[in-house]
Amino acid sequence: MKVEIEDKEFQLMLEYDQIKKRTRLLGIQLNLEYENKVPLFIGVLNGSFLFMADLLKEIDISCEVAFIRVASYEGESSTGKVKEVIGLDVDLKDRDIILVEDIVDTGLTLNYILETVKKQEPASVKVCTLLYKPSAITHEIDDISYVGFEIPNEFVVGYGLDYKGLGRNLKDIYRVCNVPSET
Ligand code: IMP
Repeated sequence: MKVEIEDKEFQLMLEYDQIKKRTRLLGIQLNLEYENKVPLFIGVLNGSFLFMADLLKEIDISCEVAFIRVASYEGESSTGKVKEVIGLDVDLKDRDIILVEDIVDTGLTLNYILETVKKQEPASVKVCTLLYKPSAITHEIDDISYVGFEIPNEFVVGYGLDYKGLGRNLKDIYRVCNVPSET
């Protein structure tokens, strides 16, 4: 199945059913590992909104939820510029933090968020990302403990991820077709 967004064509990569199954497993793991804690899940907007919602439905331990936003990305590749973290108005001191990301690409954004979060001296910080592009990473991050899927270094859209602001509403995840087909 293919979709067109602006000047690009995308083909199906991960079906929602696969995402759901993987998310359920991540939830089971988190429920066990944070059993006697009250973690604070922090979703990184905009991309994480669907993953965050589905992940939290699998969490049955006591927990809190917050969202932050970092404006840093345009078009198909990272600009390399990270602006400020917006919305971090909860006291993080001595809290167990789980940062929820849609995708870790170069790691620049996450690196910046982690630095900001750690300044508040939380008890622990872990990252849960739906997608991870290991071959794109330029900023090594030790705290990526929960990964939905490792994917090749290809541009993807859907399930919260956008291309030029579009495609976040797609239920499945699609990867860019490098050569547009004639059909
Ligand atoms: P990083 O700073 O390079 O790791 O990029 C992180 C952010 O870039 C993600 O939170 C996404 O918003 C965006 N991003 C990275 N790769 C993709 C992609 O393949 N599709 C859509 N957005 C992406």
